[in-house]
Amino acid sequence: MKKILFCGTTNLDYFIYSKSLPTEGVTIKGHFEQNAGGKGANQAVACSKLGNKPFFYTRLSNDMAGKYLYSSLLSSGVKKNAIKIVKNNKSGVALIFVDENARNLIGIAPGVNEKMPKLEINKALKFLKKNDIVVCEMGIPIVSIKGILKQSKNKKIITIFNPAPVTGKLLKKDYERIDFITPNEHEAFELTNIKIKNKKNAKKAANKLRNLGCKNVIITLGENGAYAIFDNNEIYINAPKVRAIDTTGAGDAFNGAFAFGLSKGLSAKDALKLSIFVGSLSTTKKGCQPAMPTLNDLIRSKLIKKNEFSKLF
Ligand code: RIB
Repeated sequence: MKKILFCGTTNLDYFIYSKSLPTEGVTIKGHFEQNAGGKGANQAVACSKLGNKPFFYTRLSNDMAGKYLYSSLLSSGVKKNAIKIVKNNKSGVALIFVDENARNLIGIAPGVNEKMPKLEINKALKFLKKNDIVVCEMGIPIVSIKGILKQSKNKKIITIFNPAPVTGKLLKKDYERIDFITPNEHEAFELTNIKIKNKKNAKKAANKLRNLGCKNVIITLGENGAYAIFDNNEIYINAPKVRAIDTTGAGDAFNGAFAFGLSKGLSAKDALKLSIFVGSLSTTKKGCQPAMPTLNDLIRSKLIKKNEFSKLF
C-alpha cells in the first residue's frame, strides 16, 4: 500500500442546522454542533477511516481549539509526524450554516493555516518515496502549494490537487506538476471561465485544464456524480441516490477516498467510483469528520459490494 501525505488546513467547525440559510438582516434559529474540520484534515480523516493512516502536513495553534483538533486528528488515526504546533497564533475556525435541503453557507477565519511556510514541506516529504501520493488543497498559502507540487514532483510522487477554495493563480509549470486535479463545477469555472451545466461543458473545462498542463482531470458534479478524463479516456459516473442531510465536507470525503483507492492499487476509474460512493454516503450524516464512512459502512449501506472492490479487502 502506498503512503499518503495530505497537505492543508485544520479548522474548528461551528455548525448551525436550521430550516433555511441566513440572509442579510434576517436572524435564523437552529441547532448547534461543533466538530473538528478543515479541508485537509477532513481528507486525511476520510482516508484514515477507510484504512490507510496518512501523514498530514498542517499547522495548528497551541490554543484550546488547537489542542482539541490535534487529539481529534490522532484519535482518527492520522499520523502526527508532519503536524506542527506553533505558539501565539489562533486556530482556524469555520462558521457553517446548513439548511433542511443539506445546502451550506461557510465563512472561515484561517488563523494559523495562513502561516504555513514554503520550505518545511521537504521535512514532511521525507516520509514518502517515489510513487507514493501527495494530496494538497487550496486553503494554505499559494507559495506553499507551489512548493509542495514542485518538491513532490522532484521526488516523483503522485500529486492530487484539490483547488478548493480557489484562492490564487497557478502558473503553467505548477499545473504541469499535477497528476490529478479535482475541482467541483464552481472551482472548475473559476479556473477555466467555463460554466458547467452539462457533460459538454464539463468536457470543455476538463480539456482546458489539460491544456494548462494537468495530466488527469476530475470535475465533481455533486449529486450528478463526476466527469473525468484519464489519459485520453473520458469517463462520466453518476452518483447514487441518497438521503442527504449535510453536504459539507463531501468533496473532502471524495478526495480522501480517491487517494485511498489509488494507494490500494485501484485503477483511476475504480478509485473514482469508490470516491463518488464515499462522498455521497458522507452527506447522509451531519458534520465532516464524523460523517466520513468506513469500508464497512459502505458495505452496510449496500453502495458497494466486496467483490467489486476486492483489492480493498
Ligand atoms: O470542506 C469542508 C470544510 O471547509 C469544513 O470542515 C470547514 O472547515 C471549511 O474549511
